[in-house]
Amino acid sequence: MKTENMYVIWAHPRSHSLTAQVVDQMQSEAQQHGINVTSLDLYRSGFDPVLDVDDEPDWNNPQKVYSAEVHRLFSELDDKDTVVVVFPVWWYSFPAMLKGYLDRVWNYGLGYGPGSTLAGKKLRWLALVGGSEAGYIRYGWEKNMTDFISGAMSYLGVADSKIDFLYNTIGIEEGIDNRDAHYQHLFAKARAIVSALAE
Ligand SMILES: Cc1cc2nc3c(=O)[nH]c(=O)nc-3n(C[C@H](O)[C@H](O)[C@H](O)COP(=O)(O)O)c2cc1C
Repeated sequence: MKTENMYVIWAHPRSHSLTAQVVDQMQSEAQQHGINVTSLDLYRSGFDPVLDVDDEPDWNNPQKVYSAEVHRLFSELDDKDTVVVVFPVWWYSFPAMLKGYLDRVWNYGLGYGPGSTLAGKKLRWLALVGGSEAGYIRYGWEKNMTDFISGAMSYLGVADSKIDFLYNTIGIEEGIDNRDAHYQHLFAKARAIVSALAE
């Protein structure tokens, strides 16, 4: 089904980072296709990624009431059919800000377990990788991250999930003569993820 309401979750400390520019590109592509788009800029929203006792799951009680911030942020997903997560790869993983969002907000009884409401949504993950595609594949990082995210999506019951990577994001690697052209190519790839959602 065509995406109508999209929610973009992203994490980067610099508001003009390449990650931020990719998010902008995806939002403007969404708007061109008539998709309603809302975003959660984890850094500038003042989100605290540290899970404390209030947000620790109670395995005997999927109806546990967590902190107000967690319920407020989880309810932002209610009317969205598509969730897009954009992040730079840090130590072959998520930035702590994003990991903390998953820990706290996609909590037991909300994101997974009885009553979970994420299962029916489309999920798209876009990871910005500083290194080359060849290196990322050679050392098993692409498979590692793909397996990890797809495993998590299966656990949540999300049937429609895709993971994409933008490589050479620092733009200084061998073979990149024109950094602007290279970034335009990355933007086009990011925009194509959104245009495919509009079909
Ligand atoms: C703390 C930190 C850890 C990083 N770890 C990796 C890594 O494991 N693999 C990689 O290819 N790039 C790594 N990078 C490079 C980032 O992926 C790269 O800077 C980012 O994708 C560029 O986009 P940006 O300009 O939006 O930050 C790391 C960068 C930082 C700051």
